[in-house]
Amino acid sequence: MHLPRSVRNLILVGFMGSGKSSVGREIARRCQLRFLDTDSMIRKKRGKSIPEIFAVDGEPVFREEEHQALLRLRGAQQMVLATGGGIVLAPRNRSVLRSLGAVVWLTAQEEIIWERVSRKPNRPLLQTDDPRSTIRNLMAIRYPLYHETADVTVDTSVLTHQEVATRVLLAVRAWANSRHENQD
Ligand code: S3P
Repeated sequence: MHLPRSVRNLILVGFMGSGKSSVGREIARRCQLRFLDTDSMIRKKRGKSIPEIFAVDGEPVFREEEHQALLRLRGAQQMVLATGGGIVLAPRNRSVLRSLGAVVWLTAQEEIIWERVSRKPNRPLLQTDDPRSTIRNLMAIRYPLYHETADVTVDTSVLTHQEVATRVLLAVRAWANSRHENQD
């Protein structure tokens, strides 16, 4: 499998626990593309885990690093990029994301997200007294922003990472074809 020629990069956005990194790795492997992840770039640059950056430096520093990581990728090609769930909050990030390539929104039902994220205590934003409500509130704010940024959407709720990867590639191909036809 390969990316349509007109698609420079494939960008995955979506809520925490939507499977961006696992699916991104799988797509990169299948299409022989480079896989990158904004959270890993930030971790490497600062030499700290994401929870440590939030606790020691604060969220605004993390958000600035997130933006800088995106800017460093502006010339990239043939890449699959997984992004942190909050990357769409900044309008300046949304425009860079769209300029990088096809933006795919991985969605999942709230109960499924909860089931996935409650297995690991590595999300600083969910260390609240009522993480379930936190998820609901964050989703309400972010869903319109994912929707606005994405070219295609894939619901991952009942699918394996392999199945999601296949759906993403099919959806991106259909999107690239329709865009091409509309240009003629
Ligand atoms: C965040 C999501 C995390 C990470 C950070 C903030 C968010 O990434 O960037 O904890 O604001 O939703 P994942 O979406 O990969 O969990």
